[in-house]
Amino acid sequence: MRLVLLGPPGAGKGTQAARLAERYGIAPVSTGEMLRAEVAAGSEIGCQAQAVMQSGSLVPDEIMISMLGRRIAAPDCKRGFILDGFPRTVPQAEALDRLLASRGLALDAVVELAAVDAALIERISGRFICAACGASYHDRYKPTRVRGVCDLCGGSEFICRADDNPETVAARLAAYHRQTAPMLPYYREQGKLFDINGMETMEEVAAAIAARLDALAGETSRRFDVATLTHRGPRV
Ligand code: AP5
Repeated sequence: MRLVLLGPPGAGKGTQAARLAERYGIAPVSTGEMLRAEVAAGSEIGCQAQAVMQSGSLVPDEIMISMLGRRIAAPDCKRGFILDGFPRTVPQAEALDRLLASRGLALDAVVELAAVDAALIERISGRFICAACGASYHDRYKPTRVRGVCDLCGGSEFICRADDNPETVAARLAAYHRQTAPMLPYYREQGKLFDINGMETMEEVAAAIAARLDALAGETSRRFDVATLTHRGPRV
């Protein structure tokens, strides 16, 4: 399955991408995480991206498209992937379609998580991340089971993302409305866009997405069965 998760900052893309990757056995691919790793490594891309990310703007399309192309060619993406944070502009969406078509592939579905700005700001301002393993938590909606201890690795140091301050969050939201939301009609016209209410709880959102994708997977396998029968011809 090849999926895209779209939505404004804080909509829950990373949260749901992790669940979907586990459910369908596909690779989670977060361009935000990839860029943060480049920044941490002090690479050339990281140096170019750092100031842009800190300002809340988008990193140039050509950098993102070549980075994503390399990533989805990796062996762990062979069984499928879920893209979290890519594409973010119409040129990125078009480049992704071309890239997949050149390999005889296509996206199966694009899931849009919709949420109002006030909720997004509350979610982002309460987010904290384990410094050791990167697990993401929220003061109110997803606290650690034991206060001050990461559920996954037992780490006790937590950090906030450099771009989670109020000024940058406002700029990220503006960039979403200005540059990413205009991409929705592109996928709607392809009949691939699933609108999901991202204002529900994490579990309710996960269930709503799974219901749509399971139905799609069922349809695809039924189409495949019919095609196979047609190809073989009727049994005599
Ligand atoms: P990126 O890392 O992709 O950040 P983002 O899109 O701003 O999204 P977030 O990671 O902030 O939020 P999320 O939707 O994943 O929410 P989460 O699940 O964490 O990008 C960062 C920057 O990199 C960009 O600004 C840009 O500069 C650059 N960049 C990246 N990709 C690019 C591209 N393709 N082109 C150009 N530039 C690019 O949830 C948030 C919090 O809410 C968590 O604490 C979570 O526990 C909680 N939560 C989640 N769901 C719920 C729920 N249903 N109810 C209550 N709380 C919830």
